[in-house]
Amino acid sequence: MSELLITEYFLSSDISSFLEWTKKVIYLYDYDIVIADKSGIRIYNLIEGEVSRPVDTVEWDAEQIKKGGFEHYMLKEILEQSETIQRAIQQDESVVNRIVDEIRRAYGIFFVGCGSSYHACLTGSYLFSKIAKTHVNVVLASEFENYEHFLTDRTLVFAVSQSGETADVLEAVRAAKRHGSKVIGIVNRMGSSLTRESDEFLLMNAGPEICVLSTKTYTSQVALMTMLAYALAGKYEEGIKKLKGLYMDIYNLTSRSMREHLKKLAEMLVDKEHIYLIGRGLQYATALEAALKIKEVSYIHAEAFAGGELKHGPLALIEDGTPVIVFVAKDNEKKILSNANEVKARGGFVIGVSAERHEIFDYWIKVPECGDLNPIVQIIPMQILAYKLAVLKGLDPDKPRNLAKSVTVI
Ligand code: M6R
Repeated sequence: MSELLITEYFLSSDISSFLEWTKKVIYLYDYDIVIADKSGIRIYNLIEGEVSRPVDTVEWDAEQIKKGGFEHYMLKEILEQSETIQRAIQQDESVVNRIVDEIRRAYGIFFVGCGSSYHACLTGSYLFSKIAKTHVNVVLASEFENYEHFLTDRTLVFAVSQSGETADVLEAVRAAKRHGSKVIGIVNRMGSSLTRESDEFLLMNAGPEICVLSTKTYTSQVALMTMLAYALAGKYEEGIKKLKGLYMDIYNLTSRSMREHLKKLAEMLVDKEHIYLIGRGLQYATALEAALKIKEVSYIHAEAFAGGELKHGPLALIEDGTPVIVFVAKDNEKKILSNANEVKARGGFVIGVSAERHEIFDYWIKVPECGDLNPIVQIIPMQILAYKLAVLKGLDPDKPRNLAKSVTVI
């Protein structure tokens, strides 16, 4: 170590926290212990004894981790999405083909992740069903142990994680490996444990995400899921073309006028105790992700329901003025509007996220109708809304209380 003339060490679970000072990084393995003192560092592994670990160089550059004139990383990262989606789909086609072959060979497929990555998995399962007629089991990484007995050497496990260091995801990966199952990682951070432990991986290429909330990496995950579903259906080029076409849509969705429109809505919602969100199919997954964004950054209780579930209980929550955000897509318009009507009839304040304005909306967020790509365009205004709510409440959107960017403990 001494030949590197290292004078300072940073110990962190997330490289973005020290990128400003150094791009040299030593990744630790399981059971590694670091002893740091004035003379330098030594690494011991509880099983192997003293070990030496290679020094890697992080590819991300320091410019990428600067706020670049923005008040918060969260806003900067939301606005980067027209670019990051394009970078996500720049994949080596031979790797995509290999993954598609693995999917075709597999007997049982699991998508696992936590938080927003789990929501990307859920979105992916709808996309695989819709586009590629392929069934996928979606499991929260922290619940995966309950399904371990289904794992065989023919099972394929997709582990989805921005950081590639989420302990629950790594536990799931190790369980899969114990049973001889193949693991495909969908990950943002090169060099992370997930890139080392999966058999194959796709990088999100989103660049560093500093804000604790996943925004650009969530849409990159969804873009990759979409790309894989199209590739599996034998329509890789068509999928890529559609995803490339999102550039201007996303640019418009993050425009100043859209942000102003969402600020007005945030002003109406900022003092509310509860916000509910409903959707069906792909839009149900979007509603779950939007609820997570709102609650984790504004501390307002936000809860999502599948539209069809309303009458099985949640409808009791609706009273005069209760805000309900309704995600509408062409293919489920009739049913979800009927659910919105049930809300309206109980005095709910209906906020529509859709391509068309409908009479029952008290507030309308216009998004383009993008079919299979709706999960990307519909979540972006919700990220902005969550951001505006936090700012209006005087909270720091980049560092919500009690949360860490990488959750490296079980
Ligand atoms: O690094 P990962 O994608 O594995 O992280 C998973 C979750 O911890 C993460 O998505 C978390 O839910 C975010 N705070 C959501 O905005």
